[in-house]
Amino acid sequence: MCGIVGYTGSQPVVDRLIEGLRRLEYRGYDSAGIAVQAGDGTLSVTRRVGKVSGLASAVSNVHPEATCGIGHTRWATHGVPSQQNAHPHVSCDGSIAVVHNGIIENFAELREELISRGHEFRSTTDTEVIAHLVEEAYEGDLLEAVRAVTVSLVGSYGLAVTCAQEPGRIVVTRRDSPIVLAHGEDGSYVASDIIAVIRANRDVVVLGDDQFADMRPQGIAYSDAQGETIEPNVMHVDWDIDVAEKGGYPDFMLKEIHEQPRVVRDTLAGRMVGGALKISELGMSLEELQLIDRVYVIACGTSYHAGLVAKQLIEAWARIPTEVEVASEFRYRNPIITPTTLVVAVSQSGETADTLAAIREARIKGGKVFGITNVIGSPVARESDGVIYTKANKEIAVASTKSFLGQVVSLTLLSMVLAQAKGKFTQAQTRLLFGELADTAEQIERILADTTAIEEAALACKDANDALFIGRGMGSAISYEGALKLKEISYLHAEAYAAGEMKHGPIALLSKGFPVIAVATQSPVYDKVISNIQESRTRGALVVAVATEGDEEIRKHADYVIYVPRVRDAFSAITVSVPLQLFARAIAVARGCDVDQPRNLAKSVTVE
Ligand code: F6R
Repeated sequence: MCGIVGYTGSQPVVDRLIEGLRRLEYRGYDSAGIAVQAGDGTLSVTRRVGKVSGLASAVSNVHPEATCGIGHTRWATHGVPSQQNAHPHVSCDGSIAVVHNGIIENFAELREELISRGHEFRSTTDTEVIAHLVEEAYEGDLLEAVRAVTVSLVGSYGLAVTCAQEPGRIVVTRRDSPIVLAHGEDGSYVASDIIAVIRANRDVVVLGDDQFADMRPQGIAYSDAQGETIEPNVMHVDWDIDVAEKGGYPDFMLKEIHEQPRVVRDTLAGRMVGGALKISELGMSLEELQLIDRVYVIACGTSYHAGLVAKQLIEAWARIPTEVEVASEFRYRNPIITPTTLVVAVSQSGETADTLAAIREARIKGGKVFGITNVIGSPVARESDGVIYTKANKEIAVASTKSFLGQVVSLTLLSMVLAQAKGKFTQAQTRLLFGELADTAEQIERILADTTAIEEAALACKDANDALFIGRGMGSAISYEGALKLKEISYLHAEAYAAGEMKHGPIALLSKGFPVIAVATQSPVYDKVISNIQESRTRGALVVAVATEGDEEIRKHADYVIYVPRVRDAFSAITVSVPLQLFARAIAVARGCDVDQPRNLAKSVTVE
């Protein structure tokens, strides 16, 4: 949520800041701004409402000679998206500029105090207090001023600060908000995401909480809250820089949908060792696994839907009662957790505030927490007892696709391990299932090879105002994700229902041409789903069915049929999710929407 960049070196800074902001734009795109050291002892600040492209035009001729500066792309929390509220924020005298990710919880009282001492505020953000506090604390050393100010800040922050009096210097710190740094041949870089610094160096420093980085063109010095020098935590990044490029696809979402066969393969690689399934990262012994008598899956949004899939698998295979809870509810309702409860926290970004708070709550109550995330070293990974990385690699489109698939595959592995530990699966059964799971990579490739039926169905639905997604069992779990994908990127109102619930209310919505997207793959409840489809069709609904290849019968009941390869029901969420993603995207494109950056959203949600 929000993106920070900074550069100090030998090369023009403006282009570098804009390039970094473009890479981070998926984190927020309400407004953007930069502050550069103008070379005459002043800071030059440019801010614009809207996307980075607007800022880029505004700064195309701004200080081409400048070589030090900071930038920000914002997702509004405190204060509406406006030019005044855009970052960087500057002190009264204009000598200090600050970019900030996170929330300063005590900003109201700090602001009152600063106003009483004569400071004038130009924005309604929480961030502006930091610029004024640094201005007050500054006595010729920016690092010491920032260190002193952080003592009075309550909340979360990733901060980059620069000062007109100190050419070439940027000071950075963080608490509960990611910051990475890299030093390259042409200077020093900082960002809130690796993707904006790896061009400089594949060895990046992941700054820890309450650590400080003192950036200069020649290098970066690291220290702790007491001012002691520290050894930075260096991480080597081996994924391809191409993840930040569209690679010939019209948008990142389509590119990421097409990466899903690789995600399945990479997530499964190395898991079968000597004929046995292993998740060594679980950090739990066989005895501990055997004692688990309750599972909670906690997550938000799409990750929550991956949890709905996991519930079906864990209960069916391991026979452990499993609840899936929206993380923002979980932490406030005093959940029943004992030492034999396994809490599985699922988060693509690994930094969702609600999920982190739920993890902390679960640990306080004595539960074992297992994280499933896509981001190495993220707070969810750090705060869990064990972690599986989903191997989706960086996901840029705001709507999650390949990460969801990585989560579902990882949760499927976890369900198999639990079933094994509980003695419900023999090794031979596990191997058989694992083989079928691995086959889904090739089955997804087949779906991606011909998307004509999906596009035809999307064209028929694109002008609707509302749509319903229905299914039963695994089909119901995946319907929720289908509806979310459609509404978030196309702004077409969509809801999902367990198909059997239709007659208890939602069926009243149906009228001629109302799209009903039914997951009707082969499963033990196939006939029941057909009955629910008939009920909808009788009321005039336009039915799009996602069905299993070879099912000719379904054509009698549906206006459009999208076929997916035959897989066992347990793996149908994996195959069915792909056409539902493509269906949502096709509608969004037909409606002229920005599929990668839907309005009002941000990729990682670090506020509660
Ligand atoms: C929707 C989407 C969101 C996220 C949710 C949780 O496409 O991506 O619903 O799933 O904000 O984010 P993470 O998984 O990062 O915790």
